Amino acid sequence: MRSRRALLYMPGDDWKKITKAITLGVDSICMDMEDGTAFNRKAEARATIAKALDELNFGRSEKLARINSVGSGLEAQDLQAVIDHHPDGVVLPKCESREQLEWLSQEIEKAELAHGWPLNSVRILALAETALGILNLPEIVRHPRLDAIIFGGEDFAASVGATRSMEAWELFYARSAVVTACAAYGLQAIDIVNIEFRNTDFVFDEAMAGARMGFTGKQIIHPAQVEPVQQAFSPSEEAIAYARRVVATFETNQREGKGTYDLDGKMIDMPLVKNAQKVLDRARAAGIRLQPLPRK
Ligand code: COA
Ligand code: MG
Repeated sequence: MRSRRALLYMPGDDWKKITKAITLGVDSICMDMEDGTAFNRKAEARATIAKALDELNFGRSEKLARINSVGSGLEAQDLQAVIDHHPDGVVLPKCESREQLEWLSQEIEKAELAHGWPLNSVRILALAETALGILNLPEIVRHPRLDAIIFGGEDFAASVGATRSMEAWELFYARSAVVTACAAYGLQAIDIVNIEFRNTDFVFDEAMAGARMGFTGKQIIHPAQVEPVQQAFSPSEEAIAYARRVVATFETNQREGKGTYDLDGKMIDMPLVKNAQKVLDRARAAGIRLQPLPRK
């Protein structure tokens, strides 16, 4: 699965921001027809996204289009306007049930068949951002076309009547629920937007907190957030070096018949090795080259 450390939104009717986005080296670019686009600009957004998909070179960035939610009355036209222009994935907001994913997946499959694209090649990323969306995660995360759950913190707060704070404790249960459900089915978990886009220290700290919880990426809304967020979701050199030592020493100790041992005053056993492997997986996903470990 491709790396999605940072997923950058922009209003789908904003050609200037789309052309800016493709210069930023961001993992995923999400052109929005939902809440980032004004009600009277939905048609303009559909046409602009179609044109961008046809004409712009996104380089290594992923091309995503966010449609309006199922039941909004806009979703079918949104999808129809963009799907034939071959986005890499469709982002479904306010997802609350497996049926909503089934509808979207079947519509995408029609386009795949019509164009001769490989089946299941256009992926879905779904937002869990309502109380019902969080409660129904166990049925939602089982969908085979799904790559990621995106947690929408602002909408979730509105859904449950929570007041947002810098520490985001009011979101803690739901964030954890998303990470857990995603981990259970091998999906990516993409964390909240930080709306204070000029405060790059804040977005970095919040991204680190998300990474420590198990999120694999974060939604962003401004070019200034690309670098801090992609850095936060790329393991540091020290973290990689330590993970490699854990894996290497574990192998040696296993050969000597020791499942548990002391590394610099810390007990190492299987769960810590699995975690170290996850760090190395993330490093590879972030494009960091790992030299093979010296064989003893
Ligand atoms: N994607 C791509 N480029 C963006 C961008 C984005 N999300 N946000 C800003 N830029 C560009 C601007 O066009 C500007 O480009 P320029 O230097 O070539 O003129 C540059 O980055 C600096 O922007 P700045 O002036 O600091 O911000 P702004 O006032 O233009 O925009 C926001 C501020 C919040 C309105 C804007 O960042 C935005 O629309 N973000 C996305 C919001 C969204 O999609 N929300 C829905 C999902 S939560
Ligand atoms: Mg939302």
